Amino acid sequence: MAEKRKFQAIKGTRDLLPPETELWNRVEQTAHQVFGTYGFGEIRPPIFEPTELFARSIGQETDVVSKEMYTFVDRHEKLEVPQNIGQYGAFIEKVRKLLAIGKIPRTPRNEIAIEDMQSAWNKYRSSKLDWDAAIENAYYMVVAKDTMQLGPEVSLRPEATASVCRAYIEHNMHALPQPVKLYYTGPMFRRERPQKGRYRQFYQIGAEVLEVLQPGQGSAKDIPKDAAIDAEVIEMVMTFFARLGLEGAQLDINSIGHSAPECRRGYVEKLKAELEKVKDKLGPDCQRRIETNPLRVLDSKLESEQAIIERLPRIGDHLCADCKKHYAEVKRQLDLRGVMYTENWRLVRGLDYYMRTTFEIIAQGLGSQNAVCGGGRYDGLVELLGGPPTKGIGFAIGEDRLILSLQEAGKGTVARGRDVYIAWMGQKTLATAIRAARELREAGLRVELPPVEQKFGKALGQADKLGARYALILGEAEVATGQWTLKTLGDGAQAKYSEAELLEFLKRNG
Ligand code: HAM
Repeated sequence: MAEKRKFQAIKGTRDLLPPETELWNRVEQTAHQVFGTYGFGEIRPPIFEPTELFARSIGQETDVVSKEMYTFVDRHEKLEVPQNIGQYGAFIEKVRKLLAIGKIPRTPRNEIAIEDMQSAWNKYRSSKLDWDAAIENAYYMVVAKDTMQLGPEVSLRPEATASVCRAYIEHNMHALPQPVKLYYTGPMFRRERPQKGRYRQFYQIGAEVLEVLQPGQGSAKDIPKDAAIDAEVIEMVMTFFARLGLEGAQLDINSIGHSAPECRRGYVEKLKAELEKVKDKLGPDCQRRIETNPLRVLDSKLESEQAIIERLPRIGDHLCADCKKHYAEVKRQLDLRGVMYTENWRLVRGLDYYMRTTFEIIAQGLGSQNAVCGGGRYDGLVELLGGPPTKGIGFAIGEDRLILSLQEAGKGTVARGRDVYIAWMGQKTLATAIRAARELREAGLRVELPPVEQKFGKALGQADKLGARYALILGEAEVATGQWTLKTLGDGAQAKYSEAELLEFLKRNG
């Protein structure tokens, strides 16, 4: 007998169940409505993309790309790995052809493997009479084959900004009226250590504004326009949160300038020099970051490092004139819109594509994983991915965290039970019960029609358990007289109505 195995959702993933899914639907519905009023249209990119897309945009050195992506080789469909050593010659030929036409990636590892395989194959064939040599070469061949990457490397998306930029390029969206405003909702995947508010499959609601640079554009002239777009995008998130009744959300903003010696690069050099001086007092993570990404030191939450970080040079004092102007204008635009914010010079974000504006929103009731939204400007990312010079700004909300925060604040909707339970008794009433259920459902009511006849007491008990508001009692007498009985389960009141009156009453009050 097969062993009984208890399956469970994989660590860091979870089932979202009713009644909670009602709240998820309400949140997503509100996003569709609010984002629609700001002129955004929905995009649904695929859940997996070439690994290279994420590595290039988010950054090879970031935690997301270096440690957290779910990556696999999407093996070439028509390439069967031979079970039998004698077929390796044909296999090598086929791999060479696929490599030549680019169906198998031409990586250095693959080039070496194919040469190793070929040479082991040649020796294997010429050593047929020497049994030991044949076995040894067969072994080399299998080992070489196992090191090959027989198809493109793909990853489950850890975020969607890269995908939206890829889609913008792929569908020539630069030819549409600019800017192009897109939003998305859906699952993202990061192999992080699971805890409250942090999952390996989590959900984001995000939006991006992309605008191709027209000839002669991109100068200081554009700063007021770009800053107004930044502020409007932030205003939209805050409006969305307000519409959901999320209270106490705190918006932090910063500018991280742009990558030039007279701006961020110069600052990072200074920061690095200062960090070297205090290196011994920092923990191992921050010591490593001095080399890989000094800005991320500012993100540290380690208590012992806080006083040291407070004394480090601040980016605001090292921005170039244009970036300074942009930041000042973003703040003026936020003020104009009545959006409250806190300036946080340590807000650098964990993804490499940002420049100028960065922001994060902290929500109540979430413990250490309290960032419910993060975003910023990423001019140049589309170009980095092979598109025309393009400006970009966007954000992503962690939907799991948003839902938790709403629930903690008592804003999670209490699930609605059924509106009407149809307690039908006697086979002759079934046709009438089916018809009544259909009409009430067409009017949008939640109706429970028991599949088999029940005794009166059991039917009412069941109606109660399901949280029904009304029980429609249909016995043979009711059907014969056309006078139906409606019981209000809250107070036990009971009244008789004609069929038409009762349907009308329920449609109005159900
Ligand atoms: P991010 O800061 O990596 O930015 O993620 C945005 C939000 O997703 C976070 O603030 C958090 O609420 C949620 N989140 C991230 N990881 C997890 C996790 N493991 N479990 C639960 N929630 C999580 C981005 O993803 C950028 N693409 C945002 C953006 C769009 N920037 C410009 N456009």
